[in-house]
Amino acid sequence: MSLFRDHYSGKSVLVTGGAGAIGSNLTRALVESGAQVIVLDNLSSAERWSVPSSPSVLFVEADITDEIALKRAFFEKPDVVYHLAAFFANQNSVDYPERDLEINGRGTLKLLQYASLAGVARFVYASSGSSIYGSDSPLPLREEFMSMHLSTPYQITKMVGELYCNFFYNHYGLKVVKPRFFNSYGPGEIPGQYRNVIPNFIFWAMKGLPLPITGDGEATRDFTFVGDIVDGLLGAGHLESAVGQEFNLASGSETRIVDLANMVNAATGNSAGIQYVSRRKWDTKSRLLASIDRAKDLIGYAPKTNFEEGLELTIQWFRENWELIEDSASFAPGSSSAVRQIATTRADQQV
Ligand SMILES: NC(=O)c1ccc[n+]([C@@H]2O[C@H](COP(=O)([O-])OP(=O)(O)OC[C@H]3O[C@@H](n4cnc5c(N)ncnc54)[C@H](O)[C@@H]3O)[C@@H](O)[C@H]2O)c1
Repeated sequence: MSLFRDHYSGKSVLVTGGAGAIGSNLTRALVESGAQVIVLDNLSSAERWSVPSSPSVLFVEADITDEIALKRAFFEKPDVVYHLAAFFANQNSVDYPERDLEINGRGTLKLLQYASLAGVARFVYASSGSSIYGSDSPLPLREEFMSMHLSTPYQITKMVGELYCNFFYNHYGLKVVKPRFFNSYGPGEIPGQYRNVIPNFIFWAMKGLPLPITGDGEATRDFTFVGDIVDGLLGAGHLESAVGQEFNLASGSETRIVDLANMVNAATGNSAGIQYVSRRKWDTKSRLLASIDRAKDLIGYAPKTNFEEGLELTIQWFRENWELIEDSASFAPGSSSAVRQIATTRADQQV
């Protein structure tokens, strides 16, 4: 999809959450396309070193609910807004539901208000296909399916964000787009207590620890390489056919968690194996598999990176940045059974 990149040359683009796992990759792609990028990020789940360093990047370190920071960001007159900042993700929202509502609910509303007043040409909202289809949806997951069975505050507020987008589109004519991401992974995601399974598995495997599987390992996820999500975002921020639409950005294939764990252990030479721990109560989805037909039709989306290749690129990024990653990764023993287990394992090993 590199042809979309020409569109961004000379444009001003605001990326909220531009230091994050997906946002940092998007920011880099936009800079390579000749855009001026304003990154608005409070570094609550990212590090200063993950903000792409370039004269084309203006970094505003602040919260998306901070009026002064919003004025500063919109003073740069963005043509396109990518709203990726979020209180991430399920377990975090279970532990801190009010903060989740504040950032993912009110924060998204504020961004839409500012974008609408500033007359931006496009507002792209990072929705979550892993969240909003609930646990009772037929596979493959299609955009027309709606669920009332959402099991965490994060899942609820990601859906609320889409509904607010619809309001601004219908009422004010703001050109919104709502790509729904599925289980993104790749270079740029720092492991941590509230992070996704792939960076955490790689981190623990590189430390020689057993990989904690919550549940029986038979659950599947539609893991999507971050570069493919970025390609989809570049199309979403540009093509007229995307306006007002929601569509899945996924790989369109399933991987079992137990297979993922075995692949990570093999690729990193970790002989500590797997440890089964109790399933998290909110984790009610046994399988995730998305239809990507609508994204293909609307924006010509076509994921390019297969899972083995994407995993290898991710492990390579870990090896190249190991010291920074090790310093930044934080695994406070919280409410997640996976993290509790790791904390216990580490304590056992210290004895
Ligand atoms: N990673 C996935 O698998 C996935 C799947 C579906 C949807 N999404 C959505 O995509 C977006 C990006 O996800 P990600 O994986 O890059 O997450 P991430 O946590 O790596 O990135 C989010 C960024 O937002 C920043 N942030 C958080 N709260 C903020 C606030 N109040 N003010 C300013 N900045 C704030 C964080 O510091 C971080 O840099 C999120 O909206 C997420 O809900 C992600």
